[in-house]
Amino acid sequence: MITFKNLNNFKVKKKDIKSILHLKKQNWKYTLKSQYKYFQENVKSNDIHCLMYIKEKLVGYTLLRLRKIFNIKFLIFDTYIIDKKFRLKGYGGELLRYDNKIIKKKKLPSILLCKKSMVNFYKSYGWLLSNSKVKKKKLMYYNLKKKDRVLISKKYTKLISF
Ligand SMILES: CC(C)(COP(=O)(O)OP(=O)(O)OC[C@H]1O[C@@H](n2cnc3c(N)ncnc32)[C@H](O)[C@@H]1OP(=O)(O)O)[C@@H](O)C(=O)NCCC(=O)NCCS
Repeated sequence: MITFKNLNNFKVKKKDIKSILHLKKQNWKYTLKSQYKYFQENVKSNDIHCLMYIKEKLVGYTLLRLRKIFNIKFLIFDTYIIDKKFRLKGYGGELLRYDNKIIKKKKLPSILLCKKSMVNFYKSYGWLLSNSKVKKKKLMYYNLKKKDRVLISKKYTKLISF
């Protein structure tokens, strides 16, 4: 059975951090120690951890980083990952649906950067592609008001300097 939870960083427990870092290590080849240091230095207290469990095992994770740019609050969609053993079974989609629900519930827009090959995947879950590119990566957004989209296209480099 799949269960989800979301936690602000100030509420996260050491046990949660440990399982998040172990999951991240499958894809990003940093030592646990350096990941922990990065975590402590870069994850802010109101950033949101979205966690997906199967039988109490953490199998999916997304970090939604709360930032304010040009007076607009944003959630930067980051570190989206599914445990290797559980990929290509639809769990990534399940987690993304949950992430989208949290983004909507917070009434905030969200942005992400991804490879071209991932664009259609995100599109199928309601994300939109911006015309802007950042270091060859595609910029996509969700739950963003039309009036703010222009601002994003023009100022995207500042926007993603997080
Ligand atoms: C991306 C990821 C979360 C998807 O999880 P998943 O459980 O395999 O996702 P699903 O089973 O719901 O969906 C798989 C779909 O994603 C597509 N997909 C997965 N990884 C992809 C990639 N790197 N490039 C293009 N498409 C990809 C598959 O082709 C499949 O498409 P289909 O449904 O049309 O067949 C998972 O592959 C992962 O953790 N990757 C490593 C971390 C990563 O790259 N994160 C994204 C950063 S932008």
